[in-house]
Amino acid sequence: MKIFAYGIRDDEKPSLEDWKSAHPDVEVDYTQELLTPETAALAEGADSAVVYQQLDYTRETLTALAKVGVTNLSLRNVGTDNIDFEAAKEFNFNISNVPVYSPNAIAEHSMIQLSRLLRRTKALDAKIAKHDLRWAPTIGREMRMQTVGVIGTGHIGRVAINILKGFGAKVVAYDKFPNAELQAEGLYVDSLDDLYAQADAVSLYVPGVPENHHMIDADAIAKMKDGVVIMNASRGNLVDIDAVIAGLDSGKISDFGMDVYEEEVGLFNEDWSGKAFPDAKIADLISRENVLVTPHTAFYTTKAVLEMVHQSMDAAVAFANGETPAIAVKY
Ligand code: COI
Repeated sequence: MKIFAYGIRDDEKPSLEDWKSAHPDVEVDYTQELLTPETAALAEGADSAVVYQQLDYTRETLTALAKVGVTNLSLRNVGTDNIDFEAAKEFNFNISNVPVYSPNAIAEHSMIQLSRLLRRTKALDAKIAKHDLRWAPTIGREMRMQTVGVIGTGHIGRVAINILKGFGAKVVAYDKFPNAELQAEGLYVDSLDDLYAQADAVSLYVPGVPENHHMIDADAIAKMKDGVVIMNASRGNLVDIDAVIAGLDSGKISDFGMDVYEEEVGLFNEDWSGKAFPDAKIADLISRENVLVTPHTAFYTTKAVLEMVHQSMDAAVAFANGETPAIAVKY
């Protein structure tokens, strides 16, 4: 059996080597290149391909992969919003993702960023770098004084709630599919409008499916408290960035944290040092003292990377053996 992995980064190699030692019977070949119509032929002869989300897996890409006989595709990440499922169906692709690699990685990052926003660390760090060690006016807010609205209570949202509880914050949660335990604790509000009305800070943990597109738009922001803090480490398309910029300009939004951006492909995980950003909005957001931008790094921990590699490789083997792994995507 042969598995071909695309886009293998240096930080993934130890986990891949680990996996290979535990599976001497499986031939594994890999490249740093991402899966594109041009690189699809590299997988020729493999039983499964393993990839991670950075580019769209378009009809063209899937056609090229199917053409070399590879229709088992295992993603090393959770998001599947970049797959052309219609084309995948046509070619009978078996697809898996890694829905739970380390919820803590993303939950922790989002809560660290929320804490940093509340304690105004960006402004403080800038002052300190200029040798200004005065306290005022960089006064912070305490987490335990905040009501935090958690939208989405899947694996990641639930870890975020536990972290918030540790801080002593009041949590109000919303999910279309409530979790029984959280329901018993009485954490849920009935609607997003209720959550917006109560929350001092809103943090997002829902997928970027079409029905959630721009859920944080001008209307939603208008329903939030004045001076609300918004944190998004889920998917860029959840947020209408123009509405957020308008909210920051008017002061309706006091602080904003983003690890994801609707236009991040080709922008994040690239080196722009010494060059102008090709995107005026990201340049504007990064320049603001009350905005924290991270380039989709919430997931990026040693534990998460290991799980992403190992679970996707296991799924690729299962597909190659004609089995359906538990993490197969139903579409
Ligand atoms: C995902 O797992 O879907 C992520 O968002 C991380 C990805 C950029 C590797």
